[in-house]
Amino acid sequence: MTRHFLKDDDLSPKEQAEVLQLALDLKANRFSEKPFAGPQTVAVIFDKTSTRTRVSFAVGIADLGGVPLIIDSGSSQLGKKESVADTARVLERQVAQIVWRTYAQAGLEEMAANSKVPVINSLSDDWHPCQLLADLLTIREEFGRTEGLKLAYIGDAANNMGNSYLVACALAGMSVSVAAPKGFQPAADVVARAQQIAKQVGQQIAIYEDPALAVADADVVTTDTWVSMGMEAEKEQRVKTFAGYTVDAKLMAMAKPSAIFLHCLPAYRGYEVSAEVLDGPQSRIWDEAENRLHAQKALMLWLSRQN
Ligand code: CP
Ligand code: NVA
Repeated sequence: MTRHFLKDDDLSPKEQAEVLQLALDLKANRFSEKPFAGPQTVAVIFDKTSTRTRVSFAVGIADLGGVPLIIDSGSSQLGKKESVADTARVLERQVAQIVWRTYAQAGLEEMAANSKVPVINSLSDDWHPCQLLADLLTIREEFGRTEGLKLAYIGDAANNMGNSYLVACALAGMSVSVAAPKGFQPAADVVARAQQIAKQVGQQIAIYEDPALAVADADVVTTDTWVSMGMEAEKEQRVKTFAGYTVDAKLMAMAKPSAIFLHCLPAYRGYEVSAEVLDGPQSRIWDEAENRLHAQKALMLWLSRQN
């Protein structure tokens, strides 16, 4: 069975830890592994815009001895003239792995079901699991561990980042507290899955409306844009709904003094986070962005060894 990475819990806690250890090793010794020597090609497909994901996959595939083939779906047949399944059947015969940023999770599942090479989700409407590997790597570098730490996620918790924080951090042995307005809290099935994982390691999952309750005792405070890709038409309403959910210095001060701030980026200063916090001493956003490279290289290397 081909292993894919479509959502955070496609890796077990042990496997996630292995990937994070590989990421640390690759960060220390950047050109040490060449699973794509040949060179083999890795397809990286974008249905949505990107800076970090595009750069980090292209650079990472090259670091691993391969050639990145960046495909903007607007200039391909995918999804318009040709089904996802038929696209997978063409790609699997020529590329080593398929990385895809898209809308519906169902598309990724269809791609994976028809591909004998690994399919990696580089962001869907539901999950952003590659980002979480980078975030967990950043947390591990800062604190030397992930187990027993508490992360607070503030803002739009009904999106890909909210979902991935809940499940990936639970897998890493962390507690997660979310604060989001009614209507933007995570779906019951996502909370239940995170709780199921967290319970096994004695950690807590808590959902609040009040950001102050979520950040109390937090080691990591994080947020995401209030207007995810595809939601642009709702911007005006969302800015009103999320008023009071800005991560600012006052809120950061309610977390542990040693707490760090993370943001997957792009960030909108003055909306989900104040400039003071984003650009302040507790922020680790540039390490986090760099860690996309190391974490995804580790993931691709790990997948190349399973399949
Ligand atoms: N964080 C992230 O995925 O950034 P991009 O949208 O720039 O790829
Ligand atoms: N939730 C954001 C993440 C961007 C990296 C979006 O989907 O647009």
